[in-house]
Amino acid sequence: MASAPRTTSRTADDDWWRSAVVYQVYVRSFADANSDGVGDLQGIRQRLPYLRDLGVDALWLTPFYTSPQVDAGYDVADYRNVDPLFGDLTDFDEMITDAHALGLRIIVDMVPNHTSSAHPWFAAALAAGPGSPERERYLFAEGKGEQGELPPNDWESIFGGPAWTRVVDGQWYLHLFDPAQPDLNWRHPEVRAEFEDVLRFWLDRGVDGFRIDVAHGMIKAEGLPDVGFNSMTTGQRQSELLGKGRLPYFDQDEVHDIYRAWRPILDSYPGGRMAVAEAWAETPQRLARYIGPDELHQAFSFDFLDATWSADSFRKVIDTALAESTIVGAPTTWVLSNHDRQRHVTRYGDGEVGLRRARAAALLMFALPGCVYVYQGEELGLPEVLDLPDELRQDPAFRRTGESRDGCRVPIPWGGELPPYGFGPDGSELSWLPAPATWRSLSVAAQTAAPGSTLELYRTALRIRHEHPALAGLDAITWLETEPGVLAFRRTTGDAEVTCVVNISGADVTVRGYGRPLVASADLTERGDGHVLPVDAAAWFERR
Ligand code: NOJ
Repeated sequence: MASAPRTTSRTADDDWWRSAVVYQVYVRSFADANSDGVGDLQGIRQRLPYLRDLGVDALWLTPFYTSPQVDAGYDVADYRNVDPLFGDLTDFDEMITDAHALGLRIIVDMVPNHTSSAHPWFAAALAAGPGSPERERYLFAEGKGEQGELPPNDWESIFGGPAWTRVVDGQWYLHLFDPAQPDLNWRHPEVRAEFEDVLRFWLDRGVDGFRIDVAHGMIKAEGLPDVGFNSMTTGQRQSELLGKGRLPYFDQDEVHDIYRAWRPILDSYPGGRMAVAEAWAETPQRLARYIGPDELHQAFSFDFLDATWSADSFRKVIDTALAESTIVGAPTTWVLSNHDRQRHVTRYGDGEVGLRRARAAALLMFALPGCVYVYQGEELGLPEVLDLPDELRQDPAFRRTGESRDGCRVPIPWGGELPPYGFGPDGSELSWLPAPATWRSLSVAAQTAAPGSTLELYRTALRIRHEHPALAGLDAITWLETEPGVLAFRRTTGDAEVTCVVNISGADVTVRGYGRPLVASADLTERGDGHVLPVDAAAWFERR
């Protein structure tokens, strides 16, 4: 049964997403309620109080729909059902009802660029043969070469290799990702109608929003023109242009028509239903085109994630993102990690140094105005698991490129002495990827109430972010003059003032004149009328 909407009229609360903290639940790795070694919806349900206490406002759930799981659920065979691996629709309804009762909103992933090759539409397309209406829903084409033995163009899969696969009757079909993920033809009215209906299906069940997968990909340039180079010809992978250049299969102007059709659907539901784009565009200006009152509410700002550990790099991406957000009238979405990228503890240097920097980066991010996305496990300071045995890696990209995203997808350690550290019910020993022995001391139980733990730092910072008038709103930041390598900015609302200082200078700095410390990512020591902020640390100070 669909859960009842919590509000019946549109209220100021409809803007909840503007400054929300959204916690990304990578479903298969979050919590396993049925002891099969894979996380599931009931596992999430059991852990909702943990998320409420952490201080997040919403959860984004990665795909849990019926799927052969070739790309961990980003290959959907039935958009209106739950994969038995994760539960069923009743589990979903129970989970969302409980989440709403705890004041947590639910965002689900929508995967419109491609289906699974196990989707009934694709099976019908293969069976019906060339020239059939069934093939029109996908991107089938004749090959080049005398016998059509060469792919129709030079496009490359993001997961490596050609983006085309030939079927037995000789035609080729497009898959920008794995061959098990055929791209849909979004110029087909049935495709559009189907997804509008799928959106309604989940909105009727009470979801508060959607994360749109490959939101820049649905429309391909007419005539499917060559890019002009690829790893086979010049050695340069086309995917290197992601977020930096134009590709004929990404960020085509017509894609915006799709979102202009979706927005009225979202707006027709009460309670502020939103959508966030996973979109890559050549410039921040082109990315901003996905956002607005007639398109999507947000687009992830991956430039923040890509910033290197330097004051200049952070300052530049923050300024650009904030300037864009002012122009489009929507807040920035800050992200440090997700299920596709190496965890930021490791990106920033790994080990103790990486963890120090990751903690400082969290305070930097939480002090910024806008919406924040936290990837599960970052509140525990989890590093990337770099030494997973190859035979356990499941990312389909691994077989094609040697690169794998499994190391950021290892199940969450909840407690206990032995792997998988409470991922399943007591006594359950299974987990689809093994947790390293070093994670015993990083578990939720080990870090709860432990002074100085990363989990307690996140809890404290999120509580202050919600409660402090200077941080809770969307008021702009003001950069303060500092010594080189130190970032300092102020947020002011009325009489309330918070200053965030991040020390990336390589040496301890003395901070004075910003008021009393509220929270710090490393111990501060008093010196004269100020405080010593150690290297690779951040702190918030307040004055009221
Ligand atoms: C982006 C998702 O985040 C990633 O995990 C997935 O492999 C691709 N889109 C394809 O759906």
